[in-house]
Amino acid sequence: MYHHIVVLTGAGISAESGLKTFRDQDGLWEEHRIEDVATPEGYQRDPHLVEQFYNHRWQQLQDAAVQPNAAHVALARLEQEFSGELFLVTQNVDNLHERAGSRRMLHMHGELGKGRCPRSGQIFTLHEPFGQENCCTCCIPAQRLRPHIVWFGEIPIGMDRIHDELERCDLFIAIGTSGTVYPAAGFVDIASHHGALTVEVNIAEKDPHSLFHLHYQGMASETVPQLVDKILKGRLFS
Ligand code: APR
Repeated sequence: MYHHIVVLTGAGISAESGLKTFRDQDGLWEEHRIEDVATPEGYQRDPHLVEQFYNHRWQQLQDAAVQPNAAHVALARLEQEFSGELFLVTQNVDNLHERAGSRRMLHMHGELGKGRCPRSGQIFTLHEPFGQENCCTCCIPAQRLRPHIVWFGEIPIGMDRIHDELERCDLFIAIGTSGTVYPAAGFVDIASHHGALTVEVNIAEKDPHSLFHLHYQGMASETVPQLVDKILKGRLFS
């Protein structure tokens, strides 16, 4: 029935794994000001504050209690069993999709646990939290690594590849995202404009201004496995 699926995920898919979302009650943006911890200007002003914000989220990710949930596992199953093309683009910087087994995927907002040389752009896997000792090995003198995170006002990663996938897909699914931050919030429009069926999975009710053709309301860990089952059985509308 479908030959090319693009899935977009947001913080809501990791909520049931114990990771905070940004804009729900008790979310990250209630605790921190975006301009302080998620902009280049904030990093210039106080790099230590920004490093602490990401160190905390990275250490939380290494907590044994934080595991991929059934939604992450279902998407990895879809990649394994779907006979067509599947591309997963996530706004999340956690590694729960990889730990669930997803491989054909892209982190458009960067990744926790990785640092980037501010001069060369080279990416390094972190072996200890951000601080004085985290420097690049590509420059002389070595440069202090910045978080490999796309901040507000910066260009997301992989946009050419994402656009290509959106223009070719016939099914676009957005899971656990508030659709408030562009360019990700505009992906539904691109996919729909190119003829794809667009489906949204969210714990919240369908937004009256939503552009999605279908809306599945529910917890991602329950709704995504059911949706994957329907897709693999070719029964999306039953
Ligand atoms: N199951 C399904 N959906 C859920 C669940 C759940 N268990 N819990 C929360 N949600 C939904 C919420 O209803 C909301 O629509 O997930 C969404 C989370 O929205 P945000 O907190 O805004 O997160 P996200 O959409 O990923 O934010 C996008 O904003 O601040 C930037 O870079 C940050 O990547 C992030 C981007």
